[in-house]
Amino acid sequence: MKNLINLESITKKQIANLIELANNFRLSDGTFVQESIYPDKTVGALFFEPSTRTKLSFEIAALNLGARFIDFNCSQSSLKKGESIKDTIETISLMGVDTMIIRSKEDFFEDLTNELPNINFVNAGQGTFSHPTQALTDYMTINEFSKSPDNLDILIVGDLDHSRVANSFLELLKITGSKRIRLSGLPELCTKYKGHKEFEYYESLSEAINNVDLIMALRIQNERLENILSINHKDYVKSYQITLDNLQLAKKDFLLFHPGPVNWGIELEKDVEFLSNTKIKDQVTNGVAMRMAILSSIFSE
Ligand code: CP
Repeated sequence: MKNLINLESITKKQIANLIELANNFRLSDGTFVQESIYPDKTVGALFFEPSTRTKLSFEIAALNLGARFIDFNCSQSSLKKGESIKDTIETISLMGVDTMIIRSKEDFFEDLTNELPNINFVNAGQGTFSHPTQALTDYMTINEFSKSPDNLDILIVGDLDHSRVANSFLELLKITGSKRIRLSGLPELCTKYKGHKEFEYYESLSEAINNVDLIMALRIQNERLENILSINHKDYVKSYQITLDNLQLAKKDFLLFHPGPVNWGIELEKDVEFLSNTKIKDQVTNGVAMRMAILSSIFSE
């Protein structure tokens, strides 16, 4: 794999291979393989938007593989003096960084991959559009806990219009063949999906959650709502919060996911955290193993 920008050209077989590789990097005591396999590789992280999970899991993944990791401080760099992104990345690469992990609001991956073909690029979350490494991590977690990962009734609930996680997860589910996908959330936050041909949008959460195998709750992206609409959190909680009560309507052995960070008390009732069905912590741990698999696939190209 040269770059991982989106899931468009990835196959089901490649996804399965990445999951197998990621599982091989996990050890039975909950830690990860740590071997100096790629001491000659250097990863640079350029995060123009905040992150905890994605950035640190890539850092730990790179270090576990024996590669170096450079955390580029965008706000203290010459970007602030007007240097272009392309010139910045080229400059960093001339110092020895070969793989760039980028989180940004804008879509500049196509230009970058064309203009800088010798550098490897990984999309670590792009605006409201895509987050492919999160989708791969989530599918790895589904595979860990489900015997029939491609034959599930799946509900994605929350701020769908602003969710890059939902976009990439839906893209991945199309590749892996999941057909029964329901969407729910405040109508003003799900405008892209009302009347959609491939997915069923439900305004009523209690209808949407009925008999599902997997619930993926999404964060209300307050930072992207400014000047668009203001959400009455009390109304949202009443209609769309995932609670112990409404989870009774799902299948008995349902799985509950959330890509994080969670606004506890908004998307999820606090009491659901410690249910054995809740796999949010497993998603975080699998994020390291999956990012080790992604980096090693890129390094070994
Ligand atoms: N899920 C996710 O992308 O989390 P971070 O924003 O903390 O990286």
